[in-house]
Amino acid sequence: MNVSHAIETRRSIELFDPNHEITKAEVEELITAAMLSPTAFNIQHWRFLWAEDKGLRQQLRTLSWDQPQVTDASLLLFICMDIKAWQKEPERYWRNAPEEVASAMLRNMGYYGQSAQAEHDEAIRSASMATMTLMLKAKEMGYDSCPMLGFKYNEVATLLKLPKDHGICLMLAIGKQLKEPYPRAGQLTLEEVLYLNTF
Ligand SMILES: Cc1cc2nc3c(=O)[nH]c(=O)nc-3n(C[C@H](O)[C@H](O)[C@H](O)COP(=O)(O)O)c2cc1C
Repeated sequence: MNVSHAIETRRSIELFDPNHEITKAEVEELITAAMLSPTAFNIQHWRFLWAEDKGLRQQLRTLSWDQPQVTDASLLLFICMDIKAWQKEPERYWRNAPEEVASAMLRNMGYYGQSAQAEHDEAIRSASMATMTLMLKAKEMGYDSCPMLGFKYNEVATLLKLPKDHGICLMLAIGKQLKEPYPRAGQLTLEEVLYLNTF
């Protein structure tokens, strides 16, 4: 499957085959691909939580407005981010770079210390990119997906034992779709979204 085809056929799926099982090798293939996505300063803020346990999935469904994807998808991932990753042995993010490049990057990363908003937003951007990679890679592997934020954030964070300096970017269901999605709901036109030079 080429990239354009994956982009054009990716849709958010509600109903997945609850009997299909994904293998650990497939999950690792997905995550390995996601880890090649871009991140600010190569910080790789993403932390992926695989909600595999059936009892946990049922509890999560209750906290997600009973959305069926939560229990029925073959794979339920939480795309989380370590918001403080820039402070945690940052040398490792630049260990293969020339010394002068690495030291400049480490110095520049320090600006996150001045803005909690920048620190948080950058982690969200990076984790979002990884989520898109996962959805496209899933298509290539014969799967469909649904990015989801329809859950009770605080309760889910507690259930997952989310560390205090982490956040959840998105929940992502991946599985075999049972039913074709409806036609795209109401796409804007190119003219409505594309500006030239200034707004
Ligand atoms: C941040 C975000 C949160 C979303 N949350 C949910 C959700 O909780 N449940 C759901 O069924 N779809 C959810 N979606 C999917 C959107 O409804 C979907 O992407 C949109 O309607 C466009 O449809 P498409 O993805 O099929 O192109 C979410 C998408 C995003 C980006």
